[in-house]
Amino acid sequence: MKFKTIELKGDRVRILDQRKLPQEVRYLDCRSASSVAEAIRTMAIRGAPAIGVAAAIGIALAAKKTRSSSPQVFTKTVERVCQEMRETRPTAVNLFWAVDRMEKILKRVENDGVEETKKNLVREALQILKTDIEVNRKIGEYGKRLIKNGDGVLTHCNAGALATGGYGTALGVIYAARDQGKKFQVFVDETRPMLQGCRLTAWELVQEKIPTTLITDNMAGVLMKKGLVDLVVVGADRIARNGDTANKIGTYGLAVLSKSHDIPFYVAAPTSTLDLSLVSGEEIPIEERSTAEVTHFCGYPIAPKGVKAFNPAFDVTPHSFINGIITEKGIIWKPFNKNLKKMSATPNFKLRTRNSKDA
Ligand code: MRU
Repeated sequence: MKFKTIELKGDRVRILDQRKLPQEVRYLDCRSASSVAEAIRTMAIRGAPAIGVAAAIGIALAAKKTRSSSPQVFTKTVERVCQEMRETRPTAVNLFWAVDRMEKILKRVENDGVEETKKNLVREALQILKTDIEVNRKIGEYGKRLIKNGDGVLTHCNAGALATGGYGTALGVIYAARDQGKKFQVFVDETRPMLQGCRLTAWELVQEKIPTTLITDNMAGVLMKKGLVDLVVVGADRIARNGDTANKIGTYGLAVLSKSHDIPFYVAAPTSTLDLSLVSGEEIPIEERSTAEVTHFCGYPIAPKGVKAFNPAFDVTPHSFINGIITEKGIIWKPFNKNLKKMSATPNFKLRTRNSKDA
């Protein structure tokens, strides 16, 4: 990748501003945790793993900048930032997972002292970033066998390097298959209303010189009927215990189309996207964003004034529509309930318990 999604650079967090892409490659320098939180809220940085990384780095920045040497004052200040991060976006569980990890370090301040805890928080945030890239590469390695020479691969939204610490999940699978020497074609849904497919995924794939065809969201059915799509691979924001998966709005429709055309539908996600505390997708909180994203196109009004609009940012694909979940621990096949549980029992895999402060 020729760009970095996010970096901690001394006293600032440098974020590639995804709102400006593809017209402008502009970096945002956040000098406070609040400006990192604002970048997450306004989608300057977006994508489940990337906002987890951003929240962690934002917390590390706040810790670094805290002057007080009192463990109580330090804890209160950083705790406030953790809460601010939790309130940015509700659906992607990676954000809560990352904040939980940072809080665990913070809780040891009485033992470790303020100065050591600052260092530990920075170390933890950078570890979250580094591990995310490694995990994505593993997802790619496991998933690449699903793509064959000559395939048509359809993806939705952006689950690439921009949506993660680097490399990507669904796009990670595509990059790994390309690196294996396979020749295939990628179809990219534009992904209304925020156009992550058109602005971000197409931008990544064109840079990587992967044969790419952009389509509007209502064209997938025709492509499938024509036999041009051999598999669909998408990312995820939260996966419940039974495999139900929240992802960008429109994913559910794609999954229904895939099933009726007998096309395999895969979800690629790190295990930090699993929320095994949820029995099913019914319990996943779905973010609703401003209706102006629907009534306007790139800021330009396209609907009559006063019309009602609806703007859920995500939908939930029931597990019965998903053929496999590609993780860094391997591909999880059905029955997801049993196999996700089994995976959670393997060494080093930590079952995430629900945090009472979750949105
Ligand atoms: O609203 P966004 O752009 O943050 O939504 C992103 C998605 O839905 C992605 O598909 C998902 O987070 C997976 S990213 C690896």
